[in-house]
Amino acid sequence: MNNKIIIINGPNLNLLGEREQSQYGSDTYEGLKKKCFDKSKELDLMVEFAQSNIEGKIVDLIQNARKNFNGIIINAAAFTHTSVAIRDALDIFKKPIIELHISNIYKREEFRQKSLISDIATGGIFGLGSDGYILAIISMQKLLKNEN
Ligand code: DQA
Repeated sequence: MNNKIIIINGPNLNLLGEREQSQYGSDTYEGLKKKCFDKSKELDLMVEFAQSNIEGKIVDLIQNARKNFNGIIINAAAFTHTSVAIRDALDIFKKPIIELHISNIYKREEFRQKSLISDIATGGIFGLGSDGYILAIISMQKLLKNEN
């Protein structure tokens, strides 16, 4: 079945709920994970929710996803703006990729306004808070359904 997705979170997203609530809201990482599991279940998707502060571990997650998952939702956090390695790994994936940001990166500091991922992603969601994860799951389900 074409229904396995992985949601990959980059550095500092494990501290959601504690860090800069004005940008990232009050949902905790664990709370967000539960919401994503509930929505995925409702849509008949199997979801894995992962987080790492380490660039190479994110590259490993993306490489392993080629065998095990049909789609990737990724909030690469600060690595969005810096990591050619994560971009290259995503480019090899060749299945749907949704880029996600909780905040509107285009309204923030100049260094955040460049994403190395956007032009190779299928689509993106930014600035809609942690609801963006739910919207991304809904969109991914539609993308995968259309591939069947
Ligand atoms: C973020 C935006 C990034 O610029 C930042 O480094 C993050 C989170 C977001 O979800 O809004 O850690 O990806």
